[in-house]
Amino acid sequence: MISSSRIAAAPRLLARAVSAKAAPSHAAATASSSPLLCQRAALHTQRGGGSAAKANNNSPRPGRVLERSTTTSAERYWPKYEIPEGASRLVYDLKSSPGGPITVAWTRDFLFVQDSPERGRRALKPATLRDSCACPKCRDPASGQKSFASIEIPVDIGIADVRAVDDGLAITFVNDMERYTRDGGHEMVLPWASVEMALKRRSAKDLPLPRKRSVLRRTGVQYWDAATLDRHVRTIDYDEYMKGGEAFWDAVIDICRLGIVYLKNVPRDEDAVVRVTTRIANIRETFYGRTFDVRAKPNAENVAYTSGYLGLHQDLMYLDPPPMIQVLHCMDNSCAGGESLFSDGERVGRLLWPFVNASTRMAPLADHHIPYQYDKNGYHYFASRYVIDHTEGGGFAGVHWSPPFQGKYLSAAKDLRPWIEPARIFEGLINDESAVHSRKMEAGECVLFDNLRTMHGRTAFDVGSGGSRWLRGAYIAAEDFLSRASYIPAGQAEAYRGPEEWTPEGAQQELRQTAWHQEVLDKVRRLDPSVAE
Ligand SMILES: [Fe+2]
Ligand SMILES: [Zn+2]
Repeated sequence: MISSSRIAAAPRLLARAVSAKAAPSHAAATASSSPLLCQRAALHTQRGGGSAAKANNNSPRPGRVLERSTTTSAERYWPKYEIPEGASRLVYDLKSSPGGPITVAWTRDFLFVQDSPERGRRALKPATLRDSCACPKCRDPASGQKSFASIEIPVDIGIADVRAVDDGLAITFVNDMERYTRDGGHEMVLPWASVEMALKRRSAKDLPLPRKRSVLRRTGVQYWDAATLDRHVRTIDYDEYMKGGEAFWDAVIDICRLGIVYLKNVPRDEDAVVRVTTRIANIRETFYGRTFDVRAKPNAENVAYTSGYLGLHQDLMYLDPPPMIQVLHCMDNSCAGGESLFSDGERVGRLLWPFVNASTRMAPLADHHIPYQYDKNGYHYFASRYVIDHTEGGGFAGVHWSPPFQGKYLSAAKDLRPWIEPARIFEGLINDESAVHSRKMEAGECVLFDNLRTMHGRTAFDVGSGGSRWLRGAYIAAEDFLSRASYIPAGQAEAYRGPEEWTPEGAQQELRQTAWHQEVLDKVRRLDPSVAE
């Protein structure tokens, strides 16, 4: 269950119909004691004539079992459980969500929540409800952790009574766990947000969870080419960032929105990168160490530790999952060359996404697995990734591009050829001069970027003619970054986004309206003229 404090539900009781023998006196007393039940309207006409016993036996009747082939997803999702005639019921106006009044009804075996007739109903199960109780008896207030085990719940637990309170539906159980029924008994509150979830008025994707989509919904996303990033990118003062206030959250927001932010005035000591990184979250240690040094050295264990040009790529694609945030602190960059390069890989991935689906010539970007591998010095990692990845549901999931770190195919029976031409398009788009943001970082600067979105690279540098280049780096895993990002203060998170919540679907539509879309379309058509607008 989620906290109900994030919704402003002010449910209004529209009607109450209590079955003749379903504890009417208790229900009436509690109903009238709640300040929310301001409008006790006339009873609904579905008053049950049956006894409580009849109501209890009246378990929901699953609808006619349809042939699997003819069952729609809506029918599978909304089993045709009827609310028994004798069941107690309440009708509420949930002001927090549009869609009209809802009906709450219960028998011993089920708590029904019913939307309008077209939208269906759900039968919530007592054991599952009981298991989710978040009251101080059931969850330790300090840790939030459960004080009972799910296996302790009696299998014949049932619903005793339901009433509405400010935060949701207060539920008492019959046959509750014995140790909870002593000392004043036990009542759980099912938050209104959970009722809305059950009714599908709220999607799990919209919950304030530490999930990328949930965080981005609040911060929004600004896709960028070099010119766009120049207008938006920020360089935040280290001291302000370390204080943890507005400047710190601005940095977190920029990582979410833009996938990149800089810090300046970072002290030139070897621990600074640890302080910058752990200000956000714990470090994701890898076999390169808790931190790593990017500087040219002989017999380097990574091509980054040479002085050559390093094309745009993402780090550690052979780990699963690869770390999300990369922090690079510039200790020294006094040599010639060595400019940092960045490009918004997700912008390109999303621009190509419609064509990957529409064109068989483009499809290999999303269905040809590229092997990534590290097998040296006693370490062996391997992972296969698509250039443009999709979710289980078939939506855009991200990009993977890291040519220097590709591994070997397990078998050359697999044909690489169909992948090469669409991959050249991808490569051309991320490396286009207009796409690449470059910055010669100075000592005391630090860059934080989203390794799962923002490609990075660097130009070659020359230490032979004086000066040197030394960056110190560290990573943060996605779950640790998103844990922190889920706490971006309300108001500040939304400040740059505008009034609309971000959605992946909206992002795709928005990108389609850009000049970028036309450029990508032209390039795709050169490969596959059959692609439509
Ligand atoms: Fe790298
Ligand atoms: Zn409880």
